[in-house]
Amino acid sequence: MKKKFRYAQNAPFILDMKPGRYAWCSCGNSQKQPFCDGNHEETGMFPIIEVIEEEKQVAWCGCKSSQTPPFCDGTHKKFLE
Ligand code: FES
Repeated sequence: MKKKFRYAQNAPFILDMKPGRYAWCSCGNSQKQPFCDGNHEETGMFPIIEVIEEEKQVAWCGCKSSQTPPFCDGTHKKFLE
């Protein structure tokens, strides 16, 4: 059976990041949120690759509905109403 898109959570994953290349899970099926673990197979969706240049705190979208993925833009708040 084909896997479907799912919400990971209705809030961002706020993480302290080190410089590097990260694959943000766009389909919500990864068990390593907010990052890809390969479980997007069969969803037709793919991770978004983001390069973090410097150490900083990042709010990775957890609802998978942000208009500015892979980052939270506040869209998740409409799911809490
Ligand atoms: S968690 Fe998706 S927009 Fe905030």
